[in-house]
Amino acid sequence: MMMTSATSPTTTTSIARALSSRFAARRAIGATTTSIATRPALRCGRRRASTTKIEAKKKGFAEFLNVAIDRERNEKSWYNGRAPLKPGKYAPQVKVPAGILKPPYADDGHLPDYDDRVVQIQTEPEDVEGMRAAGRLAAEVLDMAEKMIVPGVTTTNDIDVAVHKMTIENGAYPSPLNYGGFPKSVCTSLNECICHGIPDDTVILDGDIINIDVTVYLNGYHGDTSRTIMVGTVTDEVRRLVETTERALDAAIAICKPGVAVRKIGATIHGIADEGKFGVVDKFVGHGVGKQFHSGPTVRHHRNNDPGTLKVGQTFTIEPMLTIGTTRDKMWKDGWTSVTADGKWTAQCEHTLMVTETGVEILTKSPYRSGSAA
Ligand code: MF3
Ligand code: CO
Ligand code: CO
Repeated sequence: MMMTSATSPTTTTSIARALSSRFAARRAIGATTTSIATRPALRCGRRRASTTKIEAKKKGFAEFLNVAIDRERNEKSWYNGRAPLKPGKYAPQVKVPAGILKPPYADDGHLPDYDDRVVQIQTEPEDVEGMRAAGRLAAEVLDMAEKMIVPGVTTTNDIDVAVHKMTIENGAYPSPLNYGGFPKSVCTSLNECICHGIPDDTVILDGDIINIDVTVYLNGYHGDTSRTIMVGTVTDEVRRLVETTERALDAAIAICKPGVAVRKIGATIHGIADEGKFGVVDKFVGHGVGKQFHSGPTVRHHRNNDPGTLKVGQTFTIEPMLTIGTTRDKMWKDGWTSVTADGKWTAQCEHTLMVTETGVEILTKSPYRSGSAA
């Protein structure tokens, strides 16, 4: 997905950094305020405190803070007890064999220009078939990636290697590779990672959730799809998060047809997230897709007032990200990995769609999964 404010790599990175430090500061303040506010006894006590009791109160307060910090640490095992994510080691970057058609950024790592007003509409049968083929391959690669996960064994790098291999074996280029300098062939986003996680030596564990976001460039067309996989046994809350995200995507897909306002997609997703008491990330958005990886329209997943309606033949993605806690993010120093500012978990799923006379065709529908969203 695109960052809402993305124009060039430099701007996005600096904006993201500025935002993340502001959010980090706010989070720290928020945490303290909440802890004090939830201790009415302490607040009353402090008001009544006489000067002789100040030392004792200070000690009490310090103890209370420790308790609060411990409590927050314990909360980190809301789910499967896994410690917060940290960057791992990357395997060396790989190249695709000569003979595979590459997108324009493949060699120089540029982030292609993005003009929100340029949309992609497939009018020629050849383009329609090209999009169908790219979508189908993306879905098949994602199915393969899902099936290969062995909890406690598979690393995100293993997924990258397999996705890369299957993509090139099918004559396609893995679109993320070197897109704006992205170092790998697929995005793997675990647990509190909202999106754009970079495959590394992190092992996928029982009780984790992992979004795998596959995009392939086949014969000049991109097909883009992702889903969040529940690994082994996940908690009820996490299952509800993942299933609500899928339901939100399904519902948004169901309202799409020619003439429908693009903003209705966000309204639909936000309504379902609200019902489930989940947050909707607004920093990353869906997009037009086709011969270009990312184009207009900007498809926001939260309620919005954007102009624009869907047209027959238009190809685009919907890719909502829902959160258990805050929707704000922190960006890692790698400039890609976006994690929730509070460390609570988040899920995403994505399809590439083509507008038909009566609705949309899901170009990345999995032949192996039964529900449409996942
Ligand atoms: N597949 C992502 C999307 O849904 C984009 C990933 S770009 C990358 O739009 F550079 F991070 F790989
Ligand atoms: Co996308
Ligand atoms: Co994607």
